[in-house]
Amino acid sequence: MSIERVGVIGGGLMGSGIAEVCARAGSDVIIHEIHAEAAEAARTRIELSLERAVERGKLESAERDSVLGSINISTDLSDQGDRQLVIEAATEDEGLKKQIFADLDTVVPPEAILASNTSSIPITRIAAATTRPTHVVGLHFFNPVPLMGLVELVTTVMSSPDVETTVQAYAESLGKTVIRAKDRAGFIVNMLLVPYLLGAIRMYESGVASREDIDAGMRLGANHPMGPLELSDFVGLDTMKHVADVLFDEFKEPFYASPPLLTRMVEAGLLGRKTGHGFYAYD
Ligand code: CAA
Ligand code: NAD
Repeated sequence: MSIERVGVIGGGLMGSGIAEVCARAGSDVIIHEIHAEAAEAARTRIELSLERAVERGKLESAERDSVLGSINISTDLSDQGDRQLVIEAATEDEGLKKQIFADLDTVVPPEAILASNTSSIPITRIAAATTRPTHVVGLHFFNPVPLMGLVELVTTVMSSPDVETTVQAYAESLGKTVIRAKDRAGFIVNMLLVPYLLGAIRMYESGVASREDIDAGMRLGANHPMGPLELSDFVGLDTMKHVADVLFDEFKEPFYASPPLLTRMVEAGLLGRKTGHGFYAYD
């Protein structure tokens, strides 16, 4: 099956990026958001990203207009009714995702494929909320989606080989390299990356070094593009905490446990760049 009509659930940091790359590859995209304000924020995010691509010479202005024209944003889930592939990128909450998949299952045609961009939640649990577990996979993009070259394709014991082939081909058509993982919390990248980020938060919390020195250490000493505290703010501290909780629940290893400082910051609404305040302050 060739994928031409794509749905994206949630137009936040990741959903807006996923919608942008799908539209830039020629797909017709409908984003589903919860209310008009969130829909407007998603539209602005995509416009700003496309504007940046034009400024950096990566996109012609005419192409920007046509990409914008092929992305619609709706608050009515039934608008997903003719989609061939729906990629869910709503908040990292298992209950919420299961409900979204159960609802989507009643809206899209039986042959449509449902994918989750979850950072950590085992796909089997989400697939089990539908009547089509053969047609549910994990399709994990990286932030910022237009710039990061990787997608993790996560399949379960129930996934259909035809669905896996179709989704892999579609992700490759977006210009991404696909790596494959079995269905374990955190898949490949977050299983390795998240304990490192949590370790940096513990180091800062215990007063071993300043946040600036921890970040400079990994930027200059390991050539990472961002230090771990900067990167945590970039990912979103709420997402980080959800991912840590899922990993801890799966493996019960202390290095996956959310450090108290991370938990307190999330409780205080200091979520990183998205709220203007995390380990650092942002305009
Ligand atoms: N569209 C297309 N290209 C664009 C663009 C856009 N909207 N915006 C910028 N670019 C291009 C630029 O032209 C530039 O290209 P060249 O190198 O060819 O000139 C390139 O992208 C880099 O752009 P910038 O100079 O603006 O960006 P930068 O060099 O400051 O890097 C960054 C920004 C890519 C975010 C970098 O800091 C980085 O890689 N940070 C780490 C990101 C990371 O680790 N992400 C993973 C997070 S974890 C995750 O995602 C998983 C999870 O589940 C939590
Ligand atoms: P975000 O908070 O920026 O966006 C989440 C969006 O989902 C919001 O716009 C919210 O309005 C919307 N939403 C919530 N409930 C919804 C519903 N029922 N229907 C439609 N939309 C709904 O979060 P994000 O960073 O974009 O993360 C989204 C998903 O992508 C999560 O599963 C996260 O783990 C994953 N992810 C995040 C990153 C990252 O670096 N932030 C990287 C890869 C994957």
